[in-house]
Amino acid sequence: MAKEIKDINFALVEETRPPIYTAMKYWGKKPHNIWREYIKNYTTKDGLYLDPFAGSAISAFEAVKAGRKAIAFDLNPLTSFLIETFCTEFSKERFSIEVNKIVNEVKNDKVYQEYFHTTCRKCGSNSAIAQSFKWENGELYEVGIECLECKKNIKTRYLEKPTSAEIAKAKKLNNIKINTWYPEDMFYNSPSFSANFIDCIGGNHFSDLWTRRNLYIISKIFNKIIEVEDANLKKQLLLGFIKTIHLCTKMCVPRRENAKRSFSTSWGRSAYLCASRQMEMNPLLVFYGNCFGKQSVESSLINIKKYLGKIPKTLYVDKSNKSNRSKSFDIKYGIIDINTITDFIEEDSIDFIMTDPPYGGLVQYLDLSTIWLIWLKKTDQKFTPDYESEITIKNNIQDIETYKRRFQNGIKNLFKILKKDGKILFTFHNKDIKIWNAFLNAVSMSGFKIEKVIHQQNRRTGESNVANPYGTSASDFYIRCIKKPTAIFKTNEQDFEHFVIEKTISLIAQRNEPTPYQILFNGLLGEISPAGFIIEDFDKNIEQILSAHIGSIFDITNNNDNKAGKYWWFKNPTEYIKYPDKKLTDRVEDTIASLLRRKVSVTFDEVLGEVFVKYPNGLTPDIKSIDQILKKFANKSGGKWIYKGGETEKDFTDHTEILYFLLEIGKKMGYKIYIGKREQSEIYNGKKLSEYADIKKLDKFNLDQDKKSRVEMLDMIWINNESIECALEVENSTNFTSGIQRASNLNISINKIMVLPNKRKTEFLSIKDPLFIDSFKKYNWGYLFYDDIVKLKSLRNINKENLNIFLNHFIL
Ligand SMILES: C[S@@+](CC[C@H](N)C(=O)[O-])C[C@H]1O[C@@H](n2cnc3c(N)ncnc32)[C@H](O)[C@@H]1O
Ligand SMILES: [Zn+2]
Repeated sequence: MAKEIKDINFALVEETRPPIYTAMKYWGKKPHNIWREYIKNYTTKDGLYLDPFAGSAISAFEAVKAGRKAIAFDLNPLTSFLIETFCTEFSKERFSIEVNKIVNEVKNDKVYQEYFHTTCRKCGSNSAIAQSFKWENGELYEVGIECLECKKNIKTRYLEKPTSAEIAKAKKLNNIKINTWYPEDMFYNSPSFSANFIDCIGGNHFSDLWTRRNLYIISKIFNKIIEVEDANLKKQLLLGFIKTIHLCTKMCVPRRENAKRSFSTSWGRSAYLCASRQMEMNPLLVFYGNCFGKQSVESSLINIKKYLGKIPKTLYVDKSNKSNRSKSFDIKYGIIDINTITDFIEEDSIDFIMTDPPYGGLVQYLDLSTIWLIWLKKTDQKFTPDYESEITIKNNIQDIETYKRRFQNGIKNLFKILKKDGKILFTFHNKDIKIWNAFLNAVSMSGFKIEKVIHQQNRRTGESNVANPYGTSASDFYIRCIKKPTAIFKTNEQDFEHFVIEKTISLIAQRNEPTPYQILFNGLLGEISPAGFIIEDFDKNIEQILSAHIGSIFDITNNNDNKAGKYWWFKNPTEYIKYPDKKLTDRVEDTIASLLRRKVSVTFDEVLGEVFVKYPNGLTPDIKSIDQILKKFANKSGGKWIYKGGETEKDFTDHTEILYFLLEIGKKMGYKIYIGKREQSEIYNGKKLSEYADIKKLDKFNLDQDKKSRVEMLDMIWINNESIECALEVENSTNFTSGIQRASNLNISINKIMVLPNKRKTEFLSIKDPLFIDSFKKYNWGYLFYDDIVKLKSLRNINKENLNIFLNHFIL
């Protein structure tokens, strides 16, 4: 089956998330459309896709959208809850009736009346609602007020200092008696609940996360929900509930002064944290807001049917029905520890696995989800989390050895259940080299062979952003492996050193510019594993190996542009750059400029797509630099980048026109003309430049592939009797050195002419750089300005002699 599949070998572009994925908080959500493309590509039509660490279950829904069957397991019961709820039939009317009923009942509750009603400062009404309370070090300092009376049914919302009545109420709220059920779980032993945290939150129970009045209200809402008989409706209401409760805790912090957003808050960091400033939200309003409107239960459940084309058919598995092999499902799901996965899935039965495993203890998934699970488990025991089996690292509780053992065994299980020759794709986004090694070991021990590593930059803030210590965009590695039991691993230190040095040289040479260490490291990571090396202390090794050659092969300089490490370059560039090209940055700029000219208006994603494909892997530039290039050539308007035209466009037309003149001059001199690959499609007088040219391909010149690919990009070549006589570069806006580098792929003796706009005369003539002047002379260059060309072309006869009269050389 794997035979007909064409591999994806470059980074893809992330799209905006649809509402179904913004509905619930989860850490480390993945770019949905990219996952879909992978799943679609690697899972055959009736094939089976598996995500054993499904998290928010994005992968399962994307598989359904791609028309594939998915198995989505996770140890976290929340995953199962989300799948169950998203796959229920949704009736807007019934949902709305039920929510309103609950909300009205709570509204009329005595405690709600007393603690969440206040006096409107504007119209004096006594039925204004306290929307939020802000606290600092246990003192109330601000109240958010909503009043419907001021403007007759139009909400007035404002912030005020608390009145003495409000302060008095705040002082006695711990006396509130709660007569409905709420969870009485204590914080268990985990570094997630530090002594400081417990002290700040004011107790060692989960219920202490909320102020007493908030706990009262959420408990009321919860108890009303669990009385609902219709199981689907109940789940939908519970979704609204769990979307609400983490936003009403004492962990919520007021946003920095910003009028627009000072009425809401978030659980920003993936940890249990408590600060001196707190924002106490009115839970009933939050619940209502999470049921209807933007990013609500309603919007996501309505969207899912549209988005997927259907409500997926689900099949739940657990210990009681583990031998159920029914194929009648879109999503099979369960609360399954990967270490027992072989009880639920047969050997050699899965076509493709793509998964985002827990890498180390960066995010404590189960601890964080407990805030929701303590409530959900009241509705069903299966939502009780099994902390003991989690693959994570926790100080003093679970060390890296346990982590490795569980992780390794899990990957071994995946090896068993994947079909022969089947592929598995892991995403990796942790900068801790110990974890990377544990991962590589697990892969090698299980017998997978790494085929390809792709560096995939994420546009959205993912977990990787948290782990990124340097200033570059958040990014993941996509590590594609195949079940081919024959993998042999190399362990020879010398081979490894040699490999690292060679690869680094070739990477810098291909980029042809000083390159930050982090980019080299990312590029190397992508090469080393597929080559079969497994090395402990990987990072240290690479830096040590390379550093030993600073001063002989490499030359390093400080990087003040970003935090991606020092710039690495060659001590003696010509020794390593066999086939010089333009600098990578200039090539990328050319690509973007020419895309803009062709399309005039482009989305950022179109640009990324083009750049990712043209410059794969070690050549992919940082997303941030693309933004800068775009700003140079285009203006942003309505989500699109619109080509500036104007000066830039004039430069381009001048460039095309001058090329045409040079073509005429060359012809008059009796040469056959080749036009550069990129310029061939430029239009002059209604025709493509290539149509005026005599030679369209350079095949007959016996250039090897690398050389040919550089020479083809020169602006123009004059050819005489099957041999190259002269190369021409028109340097309109680009760096003068760029053209020089490309043309040095041709014999020194071949004439080379650089053509420059008149306006660059002073700039050019003031070049003092001895290196530039040296290579200009050495490679037999001359230069001409545009006005020279215009004069030349008007001559009736042109020959080498009168060309030489115009041609300038550097005189030192
Ligand atoms: C990085 S997250 C996956 C996030 C997911 N890609 C998403 O888009 O939401 C890793 C997941 O592994 C799960 N996990 C941890 N230990 C596990 C185990 N032993 N078996 C199965 N899942 C486990 C965690 O609950 C967590 O959801
Ligand atoms: Zn009012």
